[in-house]
Amino acid sequence: MNLKNKNISPIKTNSWIKLQEHFKEIKNISLKNFFLENKNRFDQFNVQFNKLLFDFSKNRINKKTINILSNLAIECKLEEYIYKMFSGEKINETENRSVLHTALRNFDKNKKIFINGVNIMEDIYFTIEKMKIFSEKIRNGIWKGYTNKPIKNIVNVGIGGSHIGPMMVVEALKSYSNKNLNIHFISNIDGSSLYYLFNKIDLDTTIFIISSKTFTTEETITNFKSILNFFIKKTKNKKFIKKHFIATTSNKKEAIKFGIPEKNIFLFGDWVGGRYSVWNAVGLSICLYIGFENFYSFLKGAYEIDLHFKNEKIEKNIPILLALIGIWNINFLKINNHLILPYNQSLQYFILYIQQLEMESNGKSVNRNGIKINYSTCPIIWGGLGNDSQHSFYQFLYQGTISSSFDFIIYIKDKYKELENHNKILFSNFLSQTRSLAFGNQKEEIIQELIIELKKKKYVNFLFPHKIIKGNKPSNSIILEELSPITLGNLMAIYEHKIFVQSIIWNIFAFDQWGVELGKKNSKKILLDLYKKNEINCYDSSTNNLINFYKKIFN
Ligand code: F6P
Repeated sequence: MNLKNKNISPIKTNSWIKLQEHFKEIKNISLKNFFLENKNRFDQFNVQFNKLLFDFSKNRINKKTINILSNLAIECKLEEYIYKMFSGEKINETENRSVLHTALRNFDKNKKIFINGVNIMEDIYFTIEKMKIFSEKIRNGIWKGYTNKPIKNIVNVGIGGSHIGPMMVVEALKSYSNKNLNIHFISNIDGSSLYYLFNKIDLDTTIFIISSKTFTTEETITNFKSILNFFIKKTKNKKFIKKHFIATTSNKKEAIKFGIPEKNIFLFGDWVGGRYSVWNAVGLSICLYIGFENFYSFLKGAYEIDLHFKNEKIEKNIPILLALIGIWNINFLKINNHLILPYNQSLQYFILYIQQLEMESNGKSVNRNGIKINYSTCPIIWGGLGNDSQHSFYQFLYQGTISSSFDFIIYIKDKYKELENHNKILFSNFLSQTRSLAFGNQKEEIIQELIIELKKKKYVNFLFPHKIIKGNKPSNSIILEELSPITLGNLMAIYEHKIFVQSIIWNIFAFDQWGVELGKKNSKKILLDLYKKNEINCYDSSTNNLINFYKKIFN
């Protein structure tokens, strides 16, 4: 890594200073005025990519904003870092690793990427081929359980990146599923999920995919051990493990220790971050559920965006634009919470997915030189299914004291032709919210409405301030023609690269997650104390008392 680049603090760049000046120029221009000033504003601020339309015109920006933001990316050497990432340089410096999730969906057969002298593309193709063969065996009923029956249930056991991505994709693409297969996800350590699962499924027609990059994650390994105990108790024969337990991991040794045979292990390299790992072995549950062809198209979708990201100029580059607009909103408009608002039910877990991807990557406050930074990085990512959320927290978005920015996401074509009216209502809601949040309402309009409604002037005066909606809330709209493996792959890769771009500009490391380690370490110690008979007094008084309270109740 070039040390000089690591010293590029975004706030010291010319572009940052220009952006501060520029902010003063346009801070009082409302979205309403931006649109009044330029009747063709949409034409200027949208990008179409295959079946995806990205409309960023409802942001508080003009052409100049995009120009300076683009220069900021250039000053921060974005292009150089994109090259470094794709070519396998060890840009995850604190873990001394390359960052190569893009290699998992690389369709350029001539590409070679060497890590420690080994062409990792060969390992990737090996795993993909293995996934193909295995998924065909399961889906065609060739792979049999211990009573010689075909498999009907897939249980993915994993947490974080080994869970959220697969669960989200499976839910999103369930219309592509094989109807003979049921899929379940076990993630957290609360025993209730396992308890209910055991009551629901027949073991002899179930495979368990133990998904863990490290194969040491407490929740996953504990769940795995409990399942294994249950399985052995029931089948009374360890020999059957090979028919029902699969591992997806980068730690083959650990998986083997637990008795999973090598041929049941789907490997990936430690150069894939957990939250970026859905594109290969960790996506096995997806591949089983929607079939290899569809899984392959899903990879293709991401690859298309990889090419777009690498090759397209900034003004037309969707991930870069999304990132730059985010930086404008966070660092200049000082909006520190961002909502993901998918409107289609099948994208319900997309919020969770982006939450981990973005907050675990860019929730950092020291720069790449280890120096504390004094500008904001990752905002709070939250959200919900748009239409449902309209009836819960949208009030806060319209009239609360905290400003938010939004990504509205919707796909148009669905399968339910006889429910066409639902589709239209959904889209009208989607549009009405992007419009209302941007433009709010008009004084005259409110008064007129109130006069008709209430007749009496005194109520009009009283109610008026409560009815005012200022609007001016910035949003992006991402519209897909349809949700398919390809377009979902497009969408997910856009966000992955957006996060990468922001990390480069903020000068932070996006691919480690040291923050989560402390909690893991502390929980190990506390666990030992929960088993001790004596009263605990080695922590702060709150923790001591809570441990002792737990013991009193549990025993
Ligand atoms: O605790 C955070 C984390 O390390 C995530 O980054 C990761 O996706 C998750 O735990 C699960 O890790 P593993 O796949 O190694 O079980």
